[in-house]
Amino acid sequence: MSNTVPTHIAAALDLIAKKTLEDETTIGSAFPYVTHPDGSWDTMSVSISAGYTGENWSHGNWFCGFWVGLLLTSYLHTRDEKYLQLAADRMVLVEERASDGNTHDIGFIFLSSAMPFYRITGDERHRATALRAADKLRSRLVVTQRGSYVSSWGPMTDPRGRAASAIDTMANIPLLYWAAKEADDASFRLAAEEHAKMTMLSFNRPDNTQYHAVEYDTTTGERLRGYTYQGAHDESYWSRGTGWAVMGLAVTAANSSKVDYLSQAIAISEKWFEALGDKPVPPYDFDATGDNVPEDSAASAIMAAGLLDLADLHPDEAVAAVWRAKAEWLVEGLCGDYLATEDCHRGILKHGCYSEPHKIGPDAAVMFGDYFFAEALARLAFPGMFIEKYDRLK
Ligand code: GLY
Repeated sequence: MSNTVPTHIAAALDLIAKKTLEDETTIGSAFPYVTHPDGSWDTMSVSISAGYTGENWSHGNWFCGFWVGLLLTSYLHTRDEKYLQLAADRMVLVEERASDGNTHDIGFIFLSSAMPFYRITGDERHRATALRAADKLRSRLVVTQRGSYVSSWGPMTDPRGRAASAIDTMANIPLLYWAAKEADDASFRLAAEEHAKMTMLSFNRPDNTQYHAVEYDTTTGERLRGYTYQGAHDESYWSRGTGWAVMGLAVTAANSSKVDYLSQAIAISEKWFEALGDKPVPPYDFDATGDNVPEDSAASAIMAAGLLDLADLHPDEAVAAVWRAKAEWLVEGLCGDYLATEDCHRGILKHGCYSEPHKIGPDAAVMFGDYFFAEALARLAFPGMFIEKYDRLK
């Protein structure tokens, strides 16, 4: 690794490399997702897909790829081949999910695993897996009179699945943009850009806060309702959502060369930082009330990763510098008070919040928080090696 990497970033990458290697000897074939209150990982089998049981929705295992991503960033940081071997062993398990069309999370699973694996090793097997997954994600596109969106939750044969879209989907669309270039098939890019447009039209409120989820009329494309799954209430400002949107807008700007998407990302980020104040980590929901509202360190990790892309892309270098500084400030804050440096805590970032309403990891390390923190670190420590580094737009 280059010796110009600031010490706090190198130390955080050291911690990821140390803990992933240690945990590989204890977690068996399941994948970690949230830490228990004692700091040990709760794990889930790779094969648990998303779906409804009656009226109850379960996201299933949408984080298995993130574990592979942590192993891959550890490889890039240490150049120790054993991380690549561990990642390859894990991919054998993860690959089965490339034909799972039940959820938009197929994007998360493979953009954090097969996509960087191919970037790092050039192994065609991973390229083929990522393309297979992208094809499934594209098939979730619902075309309406008002525009098109990638539906989020549930089989496409279930009307609830077709009508639902979540702000999180914005961070799944990088897989589509990647596939457009790899397969030389513009339909992937068109689907992703349509999704980004429809999402900003339907999720963003006039004050630049966002709904977590939207139910669409699948014919007209009108928003039937905005609602939440993991936020405080349907009209609330769920803090993780903005970072997901910023990631999707930045990659859309990169792939369309349209600066307007960056302007949208800046408008919603300004609102987010205004709500954040002077702490580097927000509450899980800016509108949550009561005592002991959990924080969400994952929200800051996601926002930092998205803003680093935005800063690479923005045509005005002075504006880019402002947003890069904000991203770096978030990373520094996470490296300060939020790193789980104690051995008994197996996560990387403390005080993430998977779902306060469901009491799943309401104050825990969460696998997606650890992963997007690693993505932000990778952008700073080895730009372009883990995921694409974008050129500045004109
Ligand atoms: N499903 C993505 C999230 O919990 O933010």
